[in-house]
Amino acid sequence: MENKRLNAAKITNQKFNKIKQFLISALGYPYFETNTCILFCGDTLEMQGKLKGELFDAIITSPPYNIGKEYEDVKPLQDYVNWSAQWISGSSKILVSNGTLLLNLGYVSIEEQAHAVPLPYLLWDKVPLYLNQEIIWNYSAGVACKNYLSPRNEKILWYVKDSKNYVFNLDAIRDKNVKYPNSKRNGKLRVNTLGKNPSDVWEIAKVTTGYNRSSEERTPHPCQFPTDLIDRLVLGFTNAKGIVFDPFIGSGTTFESCIKNKRYCVGFEIKPEYCDIAKNRISNLQSQQLTLIPFEQENLIYESV
Ligand SMILES: C[S@@+](CC[C@H](N)C(=O)[O-])C[C@H]1O[C@@H](n2cnc3c(N)ncnc32)[C@H](O)[C@@H]1O
Repeated sequence: MENKRLNAAKITNQKFNKIKQFLISALGYPYFETNTCILFCGDTLEMQGKLKGELFDAIITSPPYNIGKEYEDVKPLQDYVNWSAQWISGSSKILVSNGTLLLNLGYVSIEEQAHAVPLPYLLWDKVPLYLNQEIIWNYSAGVACKNYLSPRNEKILWYVKDSKNYVFNLDAIRDKNVKYPNSKRNGKLRVNTLGKNPSDVWEIAKVTTGYNRSSEERTPHPCQFPTDLIDRLVLGFTNAKGIVFDPFIGSGTTFESCIKNKRYCVGFEIKPEYCDIAKNRISNLQSQQLTLIPFEQENLIYESV
């Protein structure tokens, strides 16, 4: 049993190293790399076009929403939909056969037609994968509106390549907040002692900014994912030592979560200043208690057996 575990760890580590070498040969020098993460600075569409094969176990990402953020040029809507369809299909092609795509999407306004159209309405069927479920991410902080309800949610579309074979680790993401934990039927506990199914509505705080209210994890990136959200995706929808791909890694939240949760991670990012933020974030993590070292040491120990 122990030998099997050691061999499995060895294989995954070798697999990641092989994939890293392939990526470097196809894309050139990375912006930075560690034993468990690698970042390439450039355009996702262009870089994906140079890749082939079943490389990644899961894609976890939040793309630009075409709403005029500092990192995007607003395109005519149809161009944005076409661009989205292109990168999504390029990313899906390099997933393993039981791979998963977790796609975080917000809203866009359409002149004369709509104040805020949920992007899933426009993109859900442009994905060449099976749509398993829509997850609603509900957050408490945000803009306060006068003429509309204050927006407090975004969506995460959960796609799989094979509807009969995909990773779902429910026990890893159970919600410990059970109302009647000791409730019994015929003398037996009625509830799962690990907690309840977290449902398809997740209440997770946004990364906030501003005097006296800025989140501890806040970096200078304008649109940062909360690590708690990515932790739940990484833990629930990928296996330990799986390889995660984020084609729009921004400040590197997916890197941070993968390191904490012992997954490998490949990221693409077009803006060098955000690549720097991600790089610094990983270096800071290295100098804290939760560092790369246990993950790497673990691999080293396994490999030396
Ligand atoms: C919504 S943000 C992602 C934020 C990230 N999830 C985080 O936690 O920091 C989208 C990112 O995609 C990057 N981006 C935009 N167009 C890109 C492209 N064509 N190729 C690669 N990255 C791109 C932006 O610079 C931005 O950092």
